[in-house]
Amino acid sequence: MQRAVRKMGEKHMKILITAGPTREKIDPVRFISNYSSGKMGYALAEVASKKGHEVTLVSGSVAIAPPKSVKIVQVESAADMAREVRRFAKSADLIIMAAAVADYTPAKFAKDKIKKKDEVLSIKLKKTEDILSNLGKNRKKGRILVGFAAETSDLVRNAELKLEKKNLDWIVANEVGKKDRGFSSDNNAATLISRDGKRIRFPLQSKMSLAGKILSLVCEPIVG
Ligand code: PMT
Repeated sequence: MQRAVRKMGEKHMKILITAGPTREKIDPVRFISNYSSGKMGYALAEVASKKGHEVTLVSGSVAIAPPKSVKIVQVESAADMAREVRRFAKSADLIIMAAAVADYTPAKFAKDKIKKKDEVLSIKLKKTEDILSNLGKNRKKGRILVGFAAETSDLVRNAELKLEKKNLDWIVANEVGKKDRGFSSDNNAATLISRDGKRIRFPLQSKMSLAGKILSLVCEPIVG
């Protein structure tokens, strides 16, 4: 059993982390998903747990083993994830939303497999609940809220807009769409932006190393 090591003065926190993709069902056979492997969120959970914090990891379907001594809650859809985040958020001191939650889901689930017929098949999609925005609307005093921004352009500006819009304390701005970082890669680069104007750039490194750097910054509440 990995002995939890917490630096002097570092208080014990209940940390809720989300990771991985969601799967939005089209019919009993098909779903819409994305390239999230869960590695970033699992690295955060592993590092937080090794620092001696109590970690709950709400995870979509991934192919990696959960870190030891982390409470794992498996989910499938964005709706499932919203339900479990609501449940565990109540007692969390820190919430880090690293999951790639679908923004849209099929407006109607087809209970039978859709037969191959016409050349073009159109599927109507509807918006999913924005879990992070809702957490931002119901802030509990002292609870720290950290989001991620997966962007392909104008990284920092787009991330800053999300931080403001969702009422976050921190946002981890990371570039996606490149092979050497972001989705599925073992490595990542990020710019951490705080609501009081900090901007800290972390160059390409392992997700484990980046997770340690993120946690060393976000565990302290931002005063004012
Ligand atoms: O899992 P890996 O393969 O390691 O890849 C890591 C990652 C690229 C998935 C991760 O670093 C990352 O960027 N996660 C966030 C992906 C994402 O959904 O970003 P976004 O900019 O679309 O969403 C912004 C924030 O809102 C995110 O914190 C997201 O969890 C949250 N969100 C999004 C949609 C939704 N319906 N509800 C949400 O809470």
